[in-house]
Amino acid sequence: MKGIILAGGKGSRLYPVTRAVSKHLLPVYDKPLIYYPLSVLMLAGIREILVISTPEHIPAYEHLLGDGSRLGIKLWYKVQPVPRGLADAFILGEDFIGSENVALILGDNIFYGQNLTNILKRAMKLKKGAVIFGYPVKDARPFGVVEFDEEYKVVSIEEKPEKPKSNYAIPGLYFYDNKVVEIAKSIKPSKRGELEITAVNNVYLERGELNVILLGRGMAWFDTGTPESLLKAAEYVEAIQLRQGFYIACIEEIAWRRGFINTEQLRTLGEKYKMTDYGRYLLSLVNEQN
Ligand code: TTP
Repeated sequence: MKGIILAGGKGSRLYPVTRAVSKHLLPVYDKPLIYYPLSVLMLAGIREILVISTPEHIPAYEHLLGDGSRLGIKLWYKVQPVPRGLADAFILGEDFIGSENVALILGDNIFYGQNLTNILKRAMKLKKGAVIFGYPVKDARPFGVVEFDEEYKVVSIEEKPEKPKSNYAIPGLYFYDNKVVEIAKSIKPSKRGELEITAVNNVYLERGELNVILLGRGMAWFDTGTPESLLKAAEYVEAIQLRQGFYIACIEEIAWRRGFINTEQLRTLGEKYKMTDYGRYLLSLVNEQN
């Protein structure tokens, strides 16, 4: 399974902050936003990842994350010349995806909570078709909404419905078989001129190949597209990290716990940042091991 992080777009709801800086480089408490979606793909066990962003911001991502070798993963970069929509990821990523299945995560989505690793493991078992997720919300009207039967087969998906058929919103994480590339190429832009992920999901739905996994109440999901949601996410991360002492989306820790890097490599990474709590946290993991 390959992974794609979509980190382009306009970020216009965050202007003027995002006039000169990419949204996914903004801090969510103590680390850049893109660490969070990257950590989800790494938790799933995905080690080959394509980062897609705008022509002006790609160099900053290369600078921040490099080729991934320090995390024991492989990173590639691809420019999206214009924000043509989420499904454009599979067209831009065609060569990268090759003959494999692929997971797509939106660069501004944060997932955290008990059971996340198990849920990702279930999604990774995908052989045929697609898996989307359902997250319970009080008011589903501002979201894509999924309706499903007892076997978790999707019955309908609707974008921002007046009268939602369920209270499950669809977050920005999707798992597809290799057919997604052909499907993305076959769909037409919507009225707003974008290649919509909903159009891709609808093709899987028509084929009876769209499944949903529900995220429980113990899971946190944030999409950080507005100043308020960005601040709320940062407050959540601060509260959990200070209270529990466990870091959220610490990509170096995940790389180490997953066995992508060894303890010596983790120590080297910790030494680099040892003037910060972040670096000291990495070193505390090394010491805990000894
Ligand atoms: P959105 O939040 O829908 O769009 P945006 O980031 O451009 O923000 P705004 O609405 O404030 O202008 O995008 C969801 C995620 O997908 C976000 O992380 C940006 C990314 N994205 C792309 O990389 N390319 C695209 O063509 C689109 C539409 C989004």
